[in-house]
Amino acid sequence: MENSHLLNIPCSKQLLIFLLCQFVASFCLSSFIWVSRGQRMNLQSTLQLSLGSRNTTEVVPNSVEEEKHKLVILLWTWPFHVPFPLESCPPLHGTFDCHFTTNRSWFSSANAVIVHHWDVQGNPSQLTRLHRDPSQRWIWFNLEPPINSRNLKALNNLFNMTMSYRSDSDIFIPYGKLEPLDKPENFTIPPKSKMVAWAVSNWNPSSRRVQYYEELKKHLQVDVFGRQHKPLPKSQLLSTVSQYRFYLAFENSQHQDYITEKLWHNALASGTVPVVLGPSRKNYERFLPPEAFIHVDDFPSPQALAQHLHKVASDEARYREYFRWRSSFRVVHRFSWMWHLCKACQALHVATTYQTVPCLEDWFLVGSH
Ligand SMILES: *[C@@H]1O[C@H](CO)[C@@H](O)[C@H](O)[C@H]1NC(C)=O
Ligand SMILES: *[C@@H]1O[C@H](CO)[C@@H](O)[C@H](O)[C@H]1NC(C)=O
Ligand SMILES: *[C@@H]1O[C@H](CO)[C@@H](O)[C@H](O)[C@H]1NC(C)=O
Ligand SMILES: *[C@@H]1O[C@H](CO)[C@@H](O)[C@H](O)[C@H]1NC(C)=O
Repeated sequence: MENSHLLNIPCSKQLLIFLLCQFVASFCLSSFIWVSRGQRMNLQSTLQLSLGSRNTTEVVPNSVEEEKHKLVILLWTWPFHVPFPLESCPPLHGTFDCHFTTNRSWFSSANAVIVHHWDVQGNPSQLTRLHRDPSQRWIWFNLEPPINSRNLKALNNLFNMTMSYRSDSDIFIPYGKLEPLDKPENFTIPPKSKMVAWAVSNWNPSSRRVQYYEELKKHLQVDVFGRQHKPLPKSQLLSTVSQYRFYLAFENSQHQDYITEKLWHNALASGTVPVVLGPSRKNYERFLPPEAFIHVDDFPSPQALAQHLHKVASDEARYREYFRWRSSFRVVHRFSWMWHLCKACQALHVATTYQTVPCLEDWFLVGSH
C-alpha cells in the first residue's frame, strides 16, 4: 500500500511522544520509591511494581450506584478457540466484578471488548469494519512474541488498552512473577545428582539458542529432552528437572520482557538454577533478583559459561547463593485465562487514564529484532 509510508510518519511521532511520557512517568515513580523507601525495601517495591500487583486501597467508588455496576466485557473469541468456564472474579479491595460473555449480541452494549490477537490476525478487517460506541474500550490481548504476531499494522488505531507480557502494557500479564513472602522462609534445595537439563520442543537449528547449545555441549554434558530428544512427559518435567543443578531457560526468540514458562515453570518451579538466554540481563533484573539466575551474556563464550557452571557445581556454598532470594520470595506462575480476564476487569474499573497505543505495530516491535 502506498499510503502506509505516509501514515507511518505521524504514527512514529506519536510513539515517540508516548515513549517520552512513559520515561518521564517511570522516572518520577522510581525517584519517588527511591526517596521514600530504604534500600532493602527498594527491590521488593520495584519488583512488586514491575510485577504489576498494584495496591488499590485508594480507589474509592464514587457512589453506591457505581458499586452495583458490573461492567460487561465481551470476549471477542475464546483464546485459541478453546472455551473455558467464565467465572466471577475474586473480590479485590476497591474493585468490582464484571460480567463476561462471548455472545456478540452484546457487542453494542458491552463496556469493553477483549480481542485475543492470535484469533484475529488472519482476518483483521472484521474488526476495522465494526461500528462502535466511542465510550467502549477495546483491549488488545496477546501473550505471543512478535514473531508469532502477524498483521499488527492492520490493527493500528483500534485499541484503547493493551494486555500482554510487556510490562509497559496497560494490563501487564506476565508468564510468572515473584511475590514477597510475609516472613522469611527456608527453602530446601531438591537433591542434585545431575548437571544441566534442557527441554525443547521447537528445534530450529538456525535459532540463537540451538547455536549456543551446540557450542556449549562441547564443554559440558547437557541432557536434552523434547520431541527430537529424550522423551519427557509433562507430568514428569518438574521431578526430572529438579535433579539437575542447572536448567537452560532459553527463549525461542529474544524480545523485551518476553520471559516465559521456560524460566518460571521449568527452571524456578522445579527448584533449579536457570541459565537464561532471552532479553538482556537488565531486563531479567526487572523481575528477578540479580543472583537468581545466570545469564549467557555474563560470559564471553559458551566455553566460559561451561567453566563457570563446573566451578559452581563443585562449590556447594557458591551454588547455594543462587537460592538465597527464595527465603524472601515465592514463585507464582501458570496463570489461567480467567486470571487474565480478571486483571482486565480490575484495570477497567480502576484505570482512569490509559495509554491508548495508536500504533500497535511500532509499540509491540520495540525491543525486538
Ligand atoms: C494496600 O496497602 C495497605 C497499607 O499499606 C494494606 O493495609 C492493604 O492490605 C493493601 N491492600 C492490598 C490489596 O494489597
Ligand atoms: C446471545 O444473546 C442474545 C441476547 O441476549 C440471546 O438472544 C441469544 O440467545 C444469545 N446467544 C447464545 C448463543 O447464548
Ligand atoms: C478508543 O479508541 C478508539 C479508536 O482510537 C477511539 O475512537 C475511542 O474514542 C476510544 N475510546 C475511549 C473510551 O478511549
Ligand atoms: C531456617 O533459617 C533460619 C535463619 O533464617 C535458621 O536460624 C534456622 O535454623 C533454619 N531452620 C531450618 C529448619 O533449617
